[in-house]
Amino acid sequence: MEAKSHLFFLILLFNFVFLHANTLQTYIVQLHPHGVTRSSFASEFHWHLSFLEQTVSSEEDCSSRLIYSYRSAMEGFAALLSESELVSLQKLPDVIAIMPDRRLQIQTTYSYKFLGLNPTGEDAWHKSRFGRGTIIGVLDTGVWPESPSFNDQGMPPLPKKWRGICQEGQDFNSYNCNKKLIGARFFNIGHRVASTSTSSNTTREYLSPRDSQGHGTHTSSTAGGASVPMASVLGIGAGIARGMAPGAHIAVYKVCWFNGCYSSDILAAMDVAIRDGVDVLSLSLGGFSIPLFADSIAIGSFRAVEHGISVICAAGNYGPLQNSVTNEAPWIATIGASTLDRKFPAIVRLGNGQFLYGESMYPGNQFSNTIKELELVYVTGEDMASEFCFRGSLPRAKVRGKMVVCDRGVNDRAEKGQAVKESGGAAMILANTINLEEDTVDVHVLPATSIGFEESVHLKAYIKSTRKPRARIIFGGTVIGKSRAPEVAQFSARGPSFTNPSILKPDIIAPGVNIIAAWPENLGPTGLPEDSRRVNFTVMSGTSMACPHVSGIAALIRSAHPRWSPAAVKSAIMTTADVTDHSGNPIMDGKKPAEVFAIGSGHVNPERAVNPGLIYDIKPEDYVTHLCTLGYTRSEIFIITQRI
Ligand SMILES: *[C@@H]1O[C@H](CO)[C@@H](O)[C@H](O)[C@H]1NC(C)=O
Ligand SMILES: *[C@@H]1O[C@H](CO)[C@@H](O)[C@H](O)[C@H]1NC(C)=O
Repeated sequence: MEAKSHLFFLILLFNFVFLHANTLQTYIVQLHPHGVTRSSFASEFHWHLSFLEQTVSSEEDCSSRLIYSYRSAMEGFAALLSESELVSLQKLPDVIAIMPDRRLQIQTTYSYKFLGLNPTGEDAWHKSRFGRGTIIGVLDTGVWPESPSFNDQGMPPLPKKWRGICQEGQDFNSYNCNKKLIGARFFNIGHRVASTSTSSNTTREYLSPRDSQGHGTHTSSTAGGASVPMASVLGIGAGIARGMAPGAHIAVYKVCWFNGCYSSDILAAMDVAIRDGVDVLSLSLGGFSIPLFADSIAIGSFRAVEHGISVICAAGNYGPLQNSVTNEAPWIATIGASTLDRKFPAIVRLGNGQFLYGESMYPGNQFSNTIKELELVYVTGEDMASEFCFRGSLPRAKVRGKMVVCDRGVNDRAEKGQAVKESGGAAMILANTINLEEDTVDVHVLPATSIGFEESVHLKAYIKSTRKPRARIIFGGTVIGKSRAPEVAQFSARGPSFTNPSILKPDIIAPGVNIIAAWPENLGPTGLPEDSRRVNFTVMSGTSMACPHVSGIAALIRSAHPRWSPAAVKSAIMTTADVTDHSGNPIMDGKKPAEVFAIGSGHVNPERAVNPGLIYDIKPEDYVTHLCTLGYTRSEIFIITQRI
């Protein structure tokens, strides 16, 4: 059987996961949808269990090895297996593919205005009634239900087709759901299995849909958050915060935990979400590019699309590297990130009078928009730890009371600020070490600014040139409309796909730099445990932030055109994209005009996407031909589509 050679290939491909022959690992086992052995069992669950009964040799109860039973996103199950059990399982009839569990990562108020949506005008929001009646399913780190972005004032009742639940758990009750946040569930078995075999500490997590990281609260409010007047991050970026589809309902599926997001948990969430009745699935997570027949998100999303659900995914943050795009199945809308025209200037004035442009969201001090001139220090060491400002790497005697220069990269940006603060530093300049990197801002725990590569070269030259280098930072608040935008975010992943080079991806770009959205109220705006400040909104950057913009727009289109297929919705979004920026010039990618592998069909334009004129509709079976032309074999295509 051709399928058997596949199993062999998959096992070779992922051989590195076999650390010990007897260690149990999670595998996703895909079965033939019309399996010959199926009819002998009363239920899918019993059928799935029978495969383990034939393989697990030990005395134990096989049902403890079965961690998920799938039927909507895939026919099959996830189970804990040893290497030898895996070998016998793959020989059983009806087993068509086995995939080791994969660890994926999350791809980390104003953007609606930038995209041309106007709440008082005659526009897309009105034609689509703000996305009213649609349900956006968000697979992420959970939700902070008390956030004002999830208040349900003016929301219509729950749609009749909704069959989901509000799952109770640690600090989460059924009354945390309402007409805005209509569903919440959590999936953690794959994560738990993997995390006991690594040394990760998961005690800080809520065993419930409640968000302990903030990412899921941010993404779901970007997609469908309610209108919140007077939203700001400690007074910066003030305005009305609103999701792209403020009339849509949100259903949250928590699949990402401290240790990442496991594919067995993601597939379980997709399986349930398909039956729950969501219209759009939003996934701001991803891993590396792998063949589509080994990618359970590609397989599960194919089934979701067959059920009429639009699947929107982040393209990944490994740009500007070529071939870095992830989530590249043709039926998924893969979203890259762009910049907004909003800046938060925080300019460095060196002791020699030179100015260096930088950006920051430091709220400053209400009496003054500048901090006094300080001595400047750039600590260099053998191991580079102090250049990058690792915690504990900065000698207190050298940095106390000074403005410390930290190189960007390696460790978290906000953590560098915390490291400087802990060592007694008074302020920080984050210096770019790579050309082209944009100034992503953070709400640092001390006065700080982030400067570009060329500015960093000047800064370091100045420090070398004098015995007593000094500088001050002048904070300029929020400035809108002064810069060229949109541009491609440098971190935005680039196509074409590594494993499928003839798939043109990403499909489109959407705002993903310095996005302000909802935040858990028990976390500081940096997310660091030491950050005791409290906010309802914070700023984040990533294709994770771009993805839910398009998920919200897909909900608007679904609301305006309820009969459209996911392919029609995706076509509407892509054919109406802008290829020029707000000044009418080509969208830039660093210093050159953007290529198709950076922006796909262009920058998303929700106003036109709701009224596209022309759409290209395709049926799920049309993808079979497409996969053939991509060079997949019949058995590979069968694994992906369950069609020949
Ligand atoms: C995990 O973290 C908690 C709190 O941070 C700590 O009390 C506990 O000892 C840690 N557990 C392990 C196994 O490291
Ligand atoms: C967050 O919003 C809630 C509800 O609107 C409000 O009661 C609370 O004070 C806000 N918290 C902060 C830190 O602004």
